[in-house]
Amino acid sequence: MKTIIEKINRDNIEQSVIDQAGEILKGGGLVAFPTETVYGLGADALNESAAGKTYAAKGRPSDNPLIVHIARNEDLSHIVAEIPKGTWELADAFWPGPLTMIFQKSDQVPYGTTGGLETVAVRMPSDEIARKLILAGGGYVSGPSANTSGRPSPTTAAHVAQDLDGKIEMIIDGGSASIGVESTILDMTVTPPMILRPGAVTQEMMEEVIGRVDVDHTILNANSKQAPKAPGMKYRHYAPKAQLSIVDGELADVYETIRTLTQQAMSEGKRVGIIATKESISEYPEGIIKNIGSREKHGDVAKHLYQILREFDETQVDVIFSEPFTHAGIGSAVNNRLEKAAGHHHILASRKKRPLV
Ligand code: TXA
Ligand code: MG
Repeated sequence: MKTIIEKINRDNIEQSVIDQAGEILKGGGLVAFPTETVYGLGADALNESAAGKTYAAKGRPSDNPLIVHIARNEDLSHIVAEIPKGTWELADAFWPGPLTMIFQKSDQVPYGTTGGLETVAVRMPSDEIARKLILAGGGYVSGPSANTSGRPSPTTAAHVAQDLDGKIEMIIDGGSASIGVESTILDMTVTPPMILRPGAVTQEMMEEVIGRVDVDHTILNANSKQAPKAPGMKYRHYAPKAQLSIVDGELADVYETIRTLTQQAMSEGKRVGIIATKESISEYPEGIIKNIGSREKHGDVAKHLYQILREFDETQVDVIFSEPFTHAGIGSAVNNRLEKAAGHHHILASRKKRPLV
């Protein structure tokens, strides 16, 4: 299949391109589109066979449910069986935006879309191109991240093309995703609601609106034997081809340890990648060093993470060492993705002897 790639100017969104993409969706085809989190692989969420095509294009297990994207509050009641307490408060605060909520599904939503579950995940993205596309496509657009299953999620149209060119009808290029990690997933079918995947909308932000919110602890814990509640979180997602290790400790010790580990690995003939920050980039004399952004700007770190993991796949490094990042704000999402990419592999930096003061 020849994939049409259309670049859209955000300041003047061409309706003709949106209409063309909408027709593809209504005809059961696949269109990758930008959202503020990551690029999505759009299909008609109410069309069972379109869901089948989505799984095939991504190489994704069909027990892993899709998120249904809507563009208007009033469309929610068509696809969910009930709207639990707190839903509209959260929607008012965070929709449109990077929050996905899970509800009991209505009969309108096929099991193909929900991976056989009785529940459905719903999100209203803020990206203007996404919103126009959803409306043009009939109002209900399923959108998993537009990557091959197991690869880092795409934050640019070029990433989408790397994985899906020739496998889908169209890619809409709307530039880089502004957030860079996937939406927060909140299960509204339990009391109190539970976070199944951390994202830009944090536990604290939601607790300010509706009171207590829990976190699915299986997603935070390396040793958990329990399956996480979001089926997709059990897969080793976001996995770079190289072994990634997170080096923990005080920053000065981390730099020193990464230098030593890099030297060692290089002497064994390995290619070494380093995830460094704007502040630390000059600390490393050798290795393939990537600047993820300032460690003070948590949003920048989130925005560049997947891009860097993809670049390391292309440069074919054998091992990657990452500095540790804060858990504050969107940092919980960054750490969750980095942990998964690393398969929870940590190295504790050896402490330098410092003079006693
Ligand atoms: O930011 C995002 O959410 C992006 C953009 C494109 O909107 N989409 C995205 O979709 O990340 P995907 O398919 O890559 O991840 C969806 C996650 C999976 O882990 C899936 O298992 C979980 O949501 N999920 C979907 N429906 C669910 C349900 N009914 N119950 C529990 N988990 C669900
Ligand atoms: Mg995904």
